[in-house]
Amino acid sequence: MSDRVFSRRSQFDFQANRLSIAFAVRAQSGQALVDLTVSSPQKWGLGPDPQAISEVLGRCGGAPYQAEAFGMLSAREAVAEDFCGRGQKTDPAHVWLTASTSEAYAQLFRLLCDSGDEVLVPQPSYPLLAYLGAFDGVKLVPYQLVYDGVWSVDMDSVRAALSDRTRAIVAVTPNNPTGSFLRREDLEALSQLDLPVISDEVFADYAWPGDFPDLISVHTAEPGPNLRFALGGLSKASAMPGMKLGFIRVSGPDALVQSAQDRMELILDTYLSVAAPIQHAARALLELGGTARCRILKRCHANYQALGVRVKGTALSRLSSEGGWNAVLRLPAVLDDEQWALALLERGVWLQPGYFYDFAAGAFVVVSLLTEPKILMSAMDSVLMEVTHRCP
Ligand SMILES: Cc1ncc(COP(=O)(O)O)c(C=O)c1O
Repeated sequence: MSDRVFSRRSQFDFQANRLSIAFAVRAQSGQALVDLTVSSPQKWGLGPDPQAISEVLGRCGGAPYQAEAFGMLSAREAVAEDFCGRGQKTDPAHVWLTASTSEAYAQLFRLLCDSGDEVLVPQPSYPLLAYLGAFDGVKLVPYQLVYDGVWSVDMDSVRAALSDRTRAIVAVTPNNPTGSFLRREDLEALSQLDLPVISDEVFADYAWPGDFPDLISVHTAEPGPNLRFALGGLSKASAMPGMKLGFIRVSGPDALVQSAQDRMELILDTYLSVAAPIQHAARALLELGGTARCRILKRCHANYQALGVRVKGTALSRLSSEGGWNAVLRLPAVLDDEQWALALLERGVWLQPGYFYDFAAGAFVVVSLLTEPKILMSAMDSVLMEVTHRCP
């Protein structure tokens, strides 16, 4: 019956998997459980002051609404100035507002793709991309990121993934969960393919200090022959996932940018999805986010370094990264990553297995760097105990 009622694009396997069942059992058992998957800064007390957010929203709640497809000019100016203040020259005319980065993907897929068209996406990367593609009838075709001490784009796999249906290439920079930035030379190579690049830069504010990557945004790179869309949003830039404001910065050859604007104006005008109070509050929320951003970067970087020190000389390794909110640990391949996640859950530590992010091979787990440092280090003791137990 349901086959004839619902779309194929909404058909997924809704069964709980082994891991989520084991997690629910453990959580209900009342036994100790440390959750190293928490991706909300608020949960670790790192977010902006809720009282200050309420005050801003209180001031902006009743402000007048103007229906503007790309968002109200004052909000786009606030976003552009925030980027300019951080050294990324941005013209408000090239800023489009959406309700989130996830929605920005959906609108860009509508701009660039017809049903059945293909978009190349990095692997390993952010798992939600699969759903975003499916819901807009876009086929996502993976290309590989490879690790040899640092991560880079495997251009052979990009070329192998191309077809006459390919309409765009997604880069996630820094990538979630690998924390690797797209390199200038990778952007140049991708731009030679003459396809639009959608660059998900939600974590771009979280680059490790001192290790400054050579390319912080495709928007500020030297102009290429192609269209580029740099995505960001308050959810990560200001650690306010609930505020629902995303931004797309468009760049490229003038004629292409103009055509993209003309088409996108109609798409965005059809939904007008960004709430007026948030647009009025954008400037203040971006400012408030600044202190949270510093706190989060400090926490994530300190945890990243501490993890490196903690696993030195053990059978466990922490992969190198350049930023972001997660770290990747490589475990001995005596178990696969689901088996490791189950074994560690038995010890009261909950981590995401690498297959959630489509790691090609090997046993990997992903750790949230937002975690309170003492809790993280004590959980690492348990992880190392399990590793020693499995690989004496
Ligand atoms: C790489 C990446 N892109 C986009 C998003 C979604 O951002 P938003 O909350 O703005 O939709 C996330 C959320 O974790 C993410 O990790």
